[in-house]
Amino acid sequence: MGCNKRGRNVFIILFDAINLSSINQNTELFIQKLQFLFALLLFRQRAEMPGLTAPSDYSKEPPRHPCLKINSKASLLEPFNAEPPRSALTCSYVTPSDFFYKRNHGPIPIVEDIERYSVMISGLVEKPKQLFMKDIRMLPKYNVTATLQCAGNRRTAMSKTRPVKGVGWDVSAIGNAVWGGAKLSDVLELVGIPKLTSNTQFGGKHVEFVSVDKCKEEKGGPYKASIPLSQATNPEADVLLAYEMNGETLNRDHGYPLRVVVPGVIGARSVKWLEDINIIEEECQGFFMQKDYKMFPPSVDWDNINWSTRRPQMDFPVQCAICSLEDVSTIKPGKVKISGYAASGGGRGIERVDVSVDGGKTWIEASRCQKSGVQYIADGFNSDKWAWVLFEVTADIRQSTEIVAKAIDSAANIQPEKVEDIWNLRGILNTSWHRVKVQAGHSNL
Ligand code: MTE
Repeated sequence: MGCNKRGRNVFIILFDAINLSSINQNTELFIQKLQFLFALLLFRQRAEMPGLTAPSDYSKEPPRHPCLKINSKASLLEPFNAEPPRSALTCSYVTPSDFFYKRNHGPIPIVEDIERYSVMISGLVEKPKQLFMKDIRMLPKYNVTATLQCAGNRRTAMSKTRPVKGVGWDVSAIGNAVWGGAKLSDVLELVGIPKLTSNTQFGGKHVEFVSVDKCKEEKGGPYKASIPLSQATNPEADVLLAYEMNGETLNRDHGYPLRVVVPGVIGARSVKWLEDINIIEEECQGFFMQKDYKMFPPSVDWDNINWSTRRPQMDFPVQCAICSLEDVSTIKPGKVKISGYAASGGGRGIERVDVSVDGGKTWIEASRCQKSGVQYIADGFNSDKWAWVLFEVTADIRQSTEIVAKAIDSAANIQPEKVEDIWNLRGILNTSWHRVKVQAGHSNL
């Protein structure tokens, strides 16, 4: 993909390298011809052996862990979308990459030659630049523990009230990883954009990330998304160009060789297999920003939808789910351990998780931990501000009942009680109280 774009990018760099105003006209013409030839050469070379390519079918997908529950894959015709079983999800604070949910919209790209792989930064900037992996690795490396959550997490449950469009997910389209890479704020300094900038001198206000994968929603074009420049240039927002996940090189499913990680924001903005970064005036006009991942009220259906009335969803709201029990589980009457995860977007910590074993009439506060054995204090010195919290409570349950969990974040945002109140036609952001039914009987639980 992107042959023309690549050619244009090569030109930008060559023209930028020479200050044309400082030489006379004949020399200028000569240099331009030279530049043209050089660009053609480079362009041909890149087209013949590109760093990163996108297959048009699913015959070259990577191997995956057999325990993953596959949510969409009609033989080899659909993108691979899968999540781990609930019980495996909260076994560890850091989700192993094999068990981490995988959300794709096209075939997984292939690195042809890592030496040739580069990211082009251009648009409304003073100094467009082509960066190779060695340039990105030369910048200070940060490890950020951040929870990534798909906006469609818990969609299956929402679709039970009224049908919604989208891949069905249980509660595991979420995971917590240690992402390693360069801060986007450092990368943008290389093209002349200082830290904490919301507007470049050329009118740039948003940072667009463009991939190489071929998505049918984009009519065969690449996946793309954007974030505001103010967030991209804020070192405290911890936006990364990540090349590592849990201390290892990113794997193909999760964006090898380079992906964006936007902590606290729905997963859709963390673009994988990055090829271009564009500094633009308005937010990205791609399908996944303008025609998807927007939150509509329950009154909007497919006959009266007007996509332009809503802004793209960015931060994810407060969320929690019980992972130790399926819906429905059989339990042995007596002490039952109830555990799961809670997370909130925008850097807000989890203040409290309440659990009810009588369908929501009375509540017990669960204990929380973030990292084994370290009691969690919301926004305290132990808190990783972008990471989930694991919770646990043991309750005495003697009869069949409904167990409910709800979380409250550090801004006192609380999960809504009923899924009906937040139903939306795309089935995103189901953050309603999480409920599991248990039947008292003979069981090992
Ligand atoms: N980036 C590209 N290039 N293509 C995609 O399909 N999916 C997005 C995002 N980045 C996507 C992408 C969505 S919707 C989510 S939730 C996350 O990646 C999932 O990341 P993961 O598969 O690493 O868990």
